[in-house]
Amino acid sequence: PAPTPGFPLPSLHTQQAFDPAADFTSKWTRADAKQIMAQSNTNVTPGQNSMSPNVTMPEIPKDFPAMNDDVWVWDTWSLTDENANQISYKGWDVIFALVADRHAGYGFDQRHWNARIGYFFRKTNADPAKDKWNYGGHLFLPNTSIGNTEWSGSTRLMQGNKINVFYTATTFYDVAERNAGGGGIAPDAVIAKALGNIHATKDGVTFDGFQHTKLLEPDGKLYQNKAQNPGFAFRDPYTFSDPAHPGKTFMVFEGNTGGTRGSYKCKQEDLGYRPGDPHAETVNQVNSTTGAWYQTANVGLAVADNKDLTKWTFLPPILSANCVNDQTERPQIFIQNENGKNKYYLFTISHQFTYADGMRGPDGVYGFVGDGVRSDYQPVNNSGLALGSPTDLNMPANAPEGPDPRQNGRQFQAYSHYVQPGGLVQSFIDNVDGVRGGSLSPTVKMNFKGGVTQVDRSFGQNGLGPFGYLPTNVRVGGEGLY
Ligand code: FRU
Repeated sequence: PAPTPGFPLPSLHTQQAFDPAADFTSKWTRADAKQIMAQSNTNVTPGQNSMSPNVTMPEIPKDFPAMNDDVWVWDTWSLTDENANQISYKGWDVIFALVADRHAGYGFDQRHWNARIGYFFRKTNADPAKDKWNYGGHLFLPNTSIGNTEWSGSTRLMQGNKINVFYTATTFYDVAERNAGGGGIAPDAVIAKALGNIHATKDGVTFDGFQHTKLLEPDGKLYQNKAQNPGFAFRDPYTFSDPAHPGKTFMVFEGNTGGTRGSYKCKQEDLGYRPGDPHAETVNQVNSTTGAWYQTANVGLAVADNKDLTKWTFLPPILSANCVNDQTERPQIFIQNENGKNKYYLFTISHQFTYADGMRGPDGVYGFVGDGVRSDYQPVNNSGLALGSPTDLNMPANAPEGPDPRQNGRQFQAYSHYVQPGGLVQSFIDNVDGVRGGSLSPTVKMNFKGGVTQVDRSFGQNGLGPFGYLPTNVRVGGEGLY
């Protein structure tokens, strides 16, 4: 592409695949992420959207319906197989979501400290525009999971009626912290799984028999641990198989670069400028005049050592965002055939407030494409931004709990985007022009090919599909549809 005046060119990425165990970590560079601002319009009326409509989620109406009156609902995922297919089980669609009690006396922003995994089901042939998701309650019995709070993960149907729930077991030690929302003793976080049974009758879906196993704790080398940074991220497991490595099961997850917080030094490869680029920063500049080294997100990779998926080995991260962003959350791998070749899309969500000094981008989903699970990933749209909430990037960034009145009222309309088959993107509503959410957003459709993404505005109404639309594409059992 032609450079935008005043901006550097993005880094060169080959998309070349490496062995999953190889010591190569793709970099989402400062040069790449600077394209978000390079592609943003500096001349919009303040408080409008400054990003291209192709990467902007259509506006959610303020009078959105609540999916459930008793629980707030946020991060959500479907029952899937190892290839990201969404499974209809004996005639039922099943989804899993983080939920928190709406009536327990704490606010929406305290949900993280009170999170449990809940589930919902709906007849596979239901009308997504009219028929509500039935709330099945908490997935696990009280006090049975590892840790005292359940954070995001993924759920896979195994042989017969067995399911494996991969989740983040977060443990808070400070009751005051749980109620007040932060500031107390740092929590522990481990990646765990629970193997249990799914049952379907004509009345709905139930689960039982869960056996919980701790799978991974951060090692402090590849993945930062709590001793190194009380605010470390280690969460959101997503497992999948790779046709290029049959018989193996992999997991991606959210991590941070190992090492004590503040000790990281930004490297040339984190900056990623092309030689001679007049708009390049120098390593010395970044390390002496910014605090960018505090932001050290990565997308981790692990491989299962046994068929039961109870033993795992860490591999080096597949992507790092050192000196760019501190959180690359809920990563997913999506394999798509393009011109006879498998292309691997890595999607991950991130926030405005986790960007490093000198960097700016919206809340939304980011994407990277390469020739393998581990590859020199090319950021989609040259920047990495795949789909963001409407934001005026010329105005300051701030947080959903206290937005700047001059900003676009929908800058935090949705988060935790989850890409489903067919490019359907699910998310939860956070803050629509001051109205807090806790319910699923209208699903939108994002077409992506050749490393370019584009919101499909012919989908649904002006690009907004049904609320909480997570359709299934593979049927298991229940031919008669109970
Ligand atoms: C994303 C997220 C996840 C985490 C969960 C906790 O919205 O931050 O990374 O598992 O929320 O509520």
